[in-house]
Amino acid sequence: MTELLKINGDIFEIFITEEQIRGRIKELAARISDDYAGRIPIFIGVLNGSFIFLSDLIREISVDCEIDFFKLSSYGDAKISSGQVKLLKDLNCQVSGRDIIVVEDIVDSGLSIAFTKKIIEKENPKSLKFVSLLLKKGIPKIDFAVDYVGFEIPSDFVIGYGLDYAQKVRNLKSIYRLSPQGTVKPE
Ligand code: PRP
Repeated sequence: MTELLKINGDIFEIFITEEQIRGRIKELAARISDDYAGRIPIFIGVLNGSFIFLSDLIREISVDCEIDFFKLSSYGDAKISSGQVKLLKDLNCQVSGRDIIVVEDIVDSGLSIAFTKKIIEKENPKSLKFVSLLLKKGIPKIDFAVDYVGFEIPSDFVIGYGLDYAQKVRNLKSIYRLSPQGTVKPE
């Protein structure tokens, strides 16, 4: 596994390994499967970032389930949120009366998840919960709990495993963070 990555002059270091992600997903999936025993939840992935997490998560879920996707964008190619969330693709499923679990790769400022909550609540789901692989500590913009959290992390800029850097590197198997050292270590 590559420990350091240099992308466009920025240095990223390994932060959460593939094995750690896999282990945590199994734990989350076991909890969710227990909580939803006898029900058929709909997992709603928030594109693009959540697609890898969602596909790994649902393969560990042991109850029947369905999936659908929202597509939102607030970051574009930037590292900091524009502060405005845009709905780029709406849901296709019927939300009314169903158990909904929104799947995020990361809750950073909280704007996207708050936007998602508002839209889904309007459709009268039977229940609504949130799962996020990553949650930044001390989020200012949400006044509700993220029900299932993979890893609580500091405010570093993170990439990989669905998270992009100017739309690239979503295909990295581990999660990397911007290194405080800023230079590549000698081999
Ligand atoms: C990212 C990520 C989350 C959101 C979290 O999406 O996938 O959906 O930002 O940030 P927030 O809590 O500050 O709103 P982005 O808008 O970058 O689109 P992407 O998923 O296509 O990368």
